Amino acid sequence: MTSKKVKSFIKLEEAINIDQKEFNSYYRKNINSALFSIFKLLGFSKIDIESAQGSFLYLKVKTKVLDFSGACGSLNLGHNHPEIINAEKFCHENNTIDALKFGVNKLQAILAHNISTVLPEELDTTFFSTSGAEANEAAIKLVTKAQGTKRKYIIRTKGSFHGKTHGALAFTESENFSEGFHLGFPRENILTIPFNNLTALTEIIEKYPHEIAGIILEPIQGQDIVVPDKGYLKELQKICSQNNILTIFDEYKIGLGRSGSLFYFQSQEATPDILTMAKSLGGGKRAIGAMVTSRSLWEKAFGKKKDATLHSSTFSGLGGSCAVAIKSLEIFTSSNFLQNVNDLSEYFFTRLDDLKKRYPKKISSLRGRGLIIGIEFNFPISQQSLNIPFAKNIHIAMMGSIVRELLLNHNVLTYFNGSSPNILNILPPLNTSREEIDFFIDALNQVLDQKYTSLIGKFCKGAIS
Ligand SMILES: Cc1ncc(COP(=O)(O)O)c(C=O)c1O
Repeated sequence: MTSKKVKSFIKLEEAINIDQKEFNSYYRKNINSALFSIFKLLGFSKIDIESAQGSFLYLKVKTKVLDFSGACGSLNLGHNHPEIINAEKFCHENNTIDALKFGVNKLQAILAHNISTVLPEELDTTFFSTSGAEANEAAIKLVTKAQGTKRKYIIRTKGSFHGKTHGALAFTESENFSEGFHLGFPRENILTIPFNNLTALTEIIEKYPHEIAGIILEPIQGQDIVVPDKGYLKELQKICSQNNILTIFDEYKIGLGRSGSLFYFQSQEATPDILTMAKSLGGGKRAIGAMVTSRSLWEKAFGKKKDATLHSSTFSGLGGSCAVAIKSLEIFTSSNFLQNVNDLSEYFFTRLDDLKKRYPKKISSLRGRGLIIGIEFNFPISQQSLNIPFAKNIHIAMMGSIVRELLLNHNVLTYFNGSSPNILNILPPLNTSREEIDFFIDALNQVLDQKYTSLIGKFCKGAIS
């Protein structure tokens, strides 16, 4: 008889000092082994983070890593922002209530009010979620309920990302995320059009007159960092409103100051019927998202008493999450905050432009707005198959080797998406500094100075080991 090793429970106080090899093995065995292999390839599994503050991760080996990954948009205020920590402390010291289902949660009501003060007047009614995908689910349900089932289609755009829960996934076109699943919104009721293309929008409306309920899109597409033409959002909103099609703008990645405006749509004279936000609303500490719409649209869908609980969620707007979100919003709207983002953005793009001039064969373009930045690489080899797990295409291996090198030899954390492996994504905290930007530029400069063959060689060595 084989004896089974007894698993021991690890207490919180012990957890913090657990050896890296050991917690890596728990991650691989008890969470996601395939994802762990990807982390390993990119060097991510090699860093043992003791603490995090501002733009930096402090490692056990007494080095610090500049985190310009932004946790995909959740770290607009960086790690453990002191005012966010104070908001948390305030809740603990005052024993503020978190979970309350039967009664009015004060902090929730205040947060909803505050959100309405920073948005166009008509956007005054909020539903809180815990994740971004759930806020989009709420938006889709609102559109469906308000429009009735005769308007059976909802439009999404090519390259879109709106989350991975069953409903939100139906509207995520990017990569292969929705392949092989039954979806929360029927595939046959989804129309897909190219992003930043008004002709495609008018054509599809002509094809299905009075049958389209809504459209969901990211005002700047976050996966490939695609900024649409000036006037696109305004004209799209106008066409949709003329045809009674409700617009949902998903600003998770680009909202809350990231684009240089509080929300990007506000700089484009286009107000959606529904706005969704999440990620940095929680100040990098709490999970909270929000769907914001007009009172009239909300009333149309859920205004009757019998419909008041048709859409709800247990952890919708926990007191502490709302407290933190009130504080984050206060910081994002404080004087000079956005001006500083725009100044840093200008500095960052100028420095990147210089780098592009220095390496014209390697960097083909720079994308983005504010502090969501994409550096597009011009790889010398066309896409072809490789036999390394996760790096089946050569561009993934090449960008993987750049990300790994930046992390392990230059202490800078960045990332890229499988949808466009030639684009390095840079999302620094919005309160970064010129010195930190200089540090990043120096690191990238040193990586660009190396031959691709040398980078790939190191990457393959890492993959094999
Ligand atoms: C634009 C956009 N929409 C939706 C989501 C999904 O949000 P969450 O991961 O919180 O469900 C994301 C997450 O990356 C996103 O970037």
